[in-house]
Amino acid sequence: MSYDLVVIGTGPAGYVCAIRAAQLGLKTAVIEKDKTFGGTCLNVGCIPSKALLHASHLFEEAGHDFAGMGIGVSKPKLDLKQMQAFKQEGVDGNVKGVDFLFKKNKIDTFKGTGKITGPGKIDVDGKTVEAKHIVIATGSDVTRLKGIEIDEKRVVSSTGALALDKVPGKLLVVGAGVIGLELGSVWRRLGAEVQVVEFLDRILPGMDGEVARQFQRILEKQGMSFKLGSKVTAIDNKGKTLKASVEPAAGGKAETIEADVVLVAVGRVPYTQGLGLKEAGVEMDDRGRVKIDDHFQTNVKGIFAIGDVVRGAMLAHKGEDEGVAVAELIAGKAGHVNYDAIPNVIYTYPEVASVGKTEEELKQAGIAYRAGKFPFTANGRAKVNKTTDGFVKILADEKTDRILGAHIIGPDAGTMISEITVAMEFSGSAEDVARTCHPHPTLSEAVKEAALAVDKRPIHM
Ligand code: FAD
Ligand code: NAI
Repeated sequence: MSYDLVVIGTGPAGYVCAIRAAQLGLKTAVIEKDKTFGGTCLNVGCIPSKALLHASHLFEEAGHDFAGMGIGVSKPKLDLKQMQAFKQEGVDGNVKGVDFLFKKNKIDTFKGTGKITGPGKIDVDGKTVEAKHIVIATGSDVTRLKGIEIDEKRVVSSTGALALDKVPGKLLVVGAGVIGLELGSVWRRLGAEVQVVEFLDRILPGMDGEVARQFQRILEKQGMSFKLGSKVTAIDNKGKTLKASVEPAAGGKAETIEADVVLVAVGRVPYTQGLGLKEAGVEMDDRGRVKIDDHFQTNVKGIFAIGDVVRGAMLAHKGEDEGVAVAELIAGKAGHVNYDAIPNVIYTYPEVASVGKTEEELKQAGIAYRAGKFPFTANGRAKVNKTTDGFVKILADEKTDRILGAHIIGPDAGTMISEITVAMEFSGSAEDVARTCHPHPTLSEAVKEAALAVDKRPIHM
């Protein structure tokens, strides 16, 4: 039970790290405390949420949009049990896939809680596993609000919100971040009245302001309502309906909002419980994240950390790329992650996608830039599909034309952002994207037009 590398945690960061290490010839093992591999993302995060977003979108389309295209269907009936089974089938398939990949790459697996007991030594429920290198990939957990108990039935985190067996009459969402808007969309489409309470005076902090404002208008048009600059301070769960006390963010008179279900989605915190980090002398920062250097190594030689448990965006693909990079570094290669080109996607309808800097960040940094914007109302494919909400915006350095950021609202925004991400990886300019031939008729022509608009010469506007 002695390895070149042992990874603790099998979420996207951990399992990808283990596979890359095995590819590079390192004798590798993983430790997982949960019943299944795949971590938050595969079990209670990315995968189940996308299954429900997909199914609920089709449910809504069938109910609203088919008739206009001449497709006569009777009013769709919701079989939530079957929709949940569809979701679970997708989860199971993905989880089994990770199991298969571990076997294929000859990665040993240990089920149990990993606790670092000394240099190169990990205890797994009483068994000792030895490792030249340890990678911590233990992920994150739900942020809780003081005084509000999550029972995962009526007061739920994302995990409970993914597993409801009944559509709530009224869903109150606390937090207008990614989880609140994705899962709020799911339940609104399936028939719930959805109200979102957000602490700040805007939705989606960190996203480009113009994008957030237009996206809020789109969500409101779809029927979601927002109470910004407000916080939930208590939830009375004694009666048949929940009674949430909502106050202005800065404090003041509270009002009561009733709801059948409250979704608490106010962020996630790094998860390091039971890992023995204190005893091992591994330093953490003031937000409970494992501190690492530029090579993902903690202050203790031979112990590394990646994914949600360290600084940076809490995204599956960010963790995966760190997993590859740290495995390559441990194997003596030049692993690297470009944090300036990590895309971020919200899988609502339409989708919201961004990469690189926002206008606010560029202004704050004093970087002179030119913005090119192209609306989907002027894109032929969007017009014919009647999906014209949204736009593509590209931000390029004023002097060099190098792309510094891009922001898209629109169907398939999550797929379209990749072309700009690739351009950014190659230090591409707006002119490079503008001169690249794009197939017609596609939504991606709006990306080309936005790149042309940086130089004020879009064709179709
Ligand atoms: P995790 O996936 O959290 O995995 C950590 C693993 O470590 C877990 O399996 C845990 O059981 C295990 N573990 C912890 N401690 C120990 C221990 N001591 N011993 C053994 N095992 C241990 N991101 C996206 O990029 N796209 C999305 O669409 C997306 N959707 C999301 C939707 C929801 C509802 C949520 C909650 C998150 C979503 N995320 C999404 C975020 C994404 O899930 C995380 O960024 C990602 O899972 C982080 O990967 P990780 O490997 O760092 O940690
Ligand atoms: P978040 O950080 O995206 O949003 C939390 C929101 O809650 C913020 O707008 C914040 O201002 C607000 N808030 C905080 N305290 C509050 C309070 N007391 N009252 C009201 N509002 C309050 O966190 P979220 O949505 O929980 O998601 C966690 C993480 O999971 C995300 O940051 C993201 O990294 C990841 N994720 C990614 C997805 C994707 O990539 N599509 C999907 C879902 C989650």
